Amino acid sequence: MNRPKVLVTREVFQETLDTLARHFDVADNQSDRILNPEELACALADKDGALTVLTDRIDAPLLERCPRLKAVCNIAVGYNNIDLKTCRARGVMATNTPGVLDDSTADFTWALILATARRVTEAEAWLRAGQWRGWKLKQFLGTDVHHATLGILGMGRIGQAVARRARGFDMTVLYHNTRRLSAEVEKSCRAAYVSMDELLARADILILHMPYSPATHHIVDATRLARMKPGALLINAARGGVVDDAALIDALKRGAIAGAGLDVFENEPVLNPEFLKLTNVVLTPHIASSSETTRRNMALLAAENLVAALTTGKPPNLLNL
Ligand code: GLV
Repeated sequence: MNRPKVLVTREVFQETLDTLARHFDVADNQSDRILNPEELACALADKDGALTVLTDRIDAPLLERCPRLKAVCNIAVGYNNIDLKTCRARGVMATNTPGVLDDSTADFTWALILATARRVTEAEAWLRAGQWRGWKLKQFLGTDVHHATLGILGMGRIGQAVARRARGFDMTVLYHNTRRLSAEVEKSCRAAYVSMDELLARADILILHMPYSPATHHIVDATRLARMKPGALLINAARGGVVDDAALIDALKRGAIAGAGLDVFENEPVLNPEFLKLTNVVLTPHIASSSETTRRNMALLAAENLVAALTTGKPPNLLNL
């Protein structure tokens, strides 16, 4: 019997390939060269399934050219690179990797919060440049994180994991979400539900943890940035596009907010060059989930979804159908 054929679009771990090879004929891309849309369509034309990442656009024109495709399994919790509606219409199962990256992503959000508030990367760059002449009372004065008010916009699993970690810093935790959480979850996170306007007005540190979709495009725009406190910090480890980068740069330049910690950008990996000129930002290359254990677990979960999709039709993390 012919085994199903699958494509792994980018480099993965050996155990990811081994898991797939037990069931399928696997075409890999361990050289990790990004396939352009034409190359991706050609590579998927005779495949039954795909293990994808967030740089692969799985849209209507591509799906049109892949008549055999039955499953697209993303190695990411976000899935804004996949046109779910067209997948549904064409009977293509789509899956993501929820759960396995919550804690690592929450840890990294804290890395950004602390680095931004205490100016860690700015001070290190200055030290590496040989500028340090000795201790000084007013050197790199930062913002306190302890006892500050943390505002969380988007209170899903990751937002909640960040909130739980705030306890050690004796913070006041506020959140806004499309749906209010149960009293039990609010209690376990020690977080109070407030309106969007109140969140913007009261947060000393505003963090974003919502999925990217047309509804959340530029949810933090010039108007909302203007409602934040002048000393506030903005942290984005969600998706580029939830923040209007040009409006953020303008707010940072004018001192309308004090700083930003950003792991994601509009049009990444191409950055608005103005970000690189600012000293009050911490910039990282979309690595919030990137601990070795978590990235391995994400790839394995995606592979398990692909195996289940093509063998039973019931992948554990089905997003559509
Ligand atoms: C990473 O950004 C993810 O969505 O998992």
